[in-house]
Amino acid sequence: MIEALGPWFHNIEIDGVWTAPDHFLGDYPAVKFARFADALPQDLGGCSVLDIGCNAGFYAMEMKRRGAGEVVAIDSDEHYLRQGRFAAAALGYADIRFEQLSVYDVAQLGRRFDLVIFMGVLYHLRHPLLALDLIREHVAGEKLLFQTMQRGGDTIANIPEDHPFHVPGTTQPPAFFDDPGYPRMHFIEREYAHDWTNWWAPNRACSEAMLRSAGFAIEARPEEEVYLCRVAEIPFAGRGAGAGAVYPARGQEEAR
Ligand SMILES: C[S@@+](CC[C@H](N)C(=O)[O-])C[C@H]1O[C@@H](n2cnc3c(N)ncnc32)[C@H](O)[C@@H]1O
Repeated sequence: MIEALGPWFHNIEIDGVWTAPDHFLGDYPAVKFARFADALPQDLGGCSVLDIGCNAGFYAMEMKRRGAGEVVAIDSDEHYLRQGRFAAAALGYADIRFEQLSVYDVAQLGRRFDLVIFMGVLYHLRHPLLALDLIREHVAGEKLLFQTMQRGGDTIANIPEDHPFHVPGTTQPPAFFDDPGYPRMHFIEREYAHDWTNWWAPNRACSEAMLRSAGFAIEARPEEEVYLCRVAEIPFAGRGAGAGAVYPARGQEEAR
C-alpha cells in the first residue's frame, strides 16, 4: 500500500515501513518538528485544529498525539490526502477528517479553529498574502503555526511608520528600500529545486511583515522559519477595501 500510494513527501513509519526513507531533507518532517515541538503545549486539551496543506498528515497526527480534539486536515492534492487517510487509519487516528480543499477556499469550512497550522505552503502559492488574509478572515480562531521557506538575509531593517516620497530636499527614494533587511519576496519565475510550484521566497523580514499585515501577532519564532502567532487586529481594517482578503469575480460564462 505504501508503495502504491507513493511518492511520499512525509516520512512516516507504518508497521515498520518508512514512507519516504530517501527524503532529500532527511527524516522529514520529524527533524523539522523536533526543532520547534517544545513551543507547542504538550497537552492541547481537546482544542480544534485545522492543518492547511496537510500532505500525508504528519502534523495533524502529531496534534492528535498531543490531545487535540477535532482535527481537520486539508490539501489541494488528492494524492497526498489518500496517503494521509491511509497513514491516519493505520496509526489509530482515523477520526482526523481529510478533505480536498484549497487554502483559497477555507471560507467553505464555515468555522474557526483554536489552532491553524499553515506550514510549508505559502511559498507554493501565487497569491501568498491573499492566503494569509483568508485564513485570518475565516478560520483562525486563536493561534497560527506558520512556516515558510525563507531566502535572503536574516536581518530586520528599522522602517519608519511613514516616510515622504523622496528623502527631503532630494529626488531620491528613502535608502531603506535597498536595505537587505527590508521586507522582500523573491519571485521565482521558472523552477526552484525542480519544482515549478515554488513561486516565492520571502526573507525573514517579509515573512514577519506579512504575518503582522494579515492580522497575526508573532509570539515566538522557535525555529528560524517557524512562527507561532496569535490572532490580532488587522492593520488598516475599516479604512477601505484595500485591507484584508479580496474575492475576485468570475465572468458568468466561467462561473457556470
Ligand atoms: C511542502 S508541502 C508541506 C506539507 C506540510 N504542511 C509540512 O509542512 O510538512 C506543501 C503542501 O501544500 C499543499 N498545497 C499546495 N498548494 C495548496 C493550496 N492552494 N491549498 C492547500 N494545500 C496546498 C501541497 O499539496 C503539499 O501537500
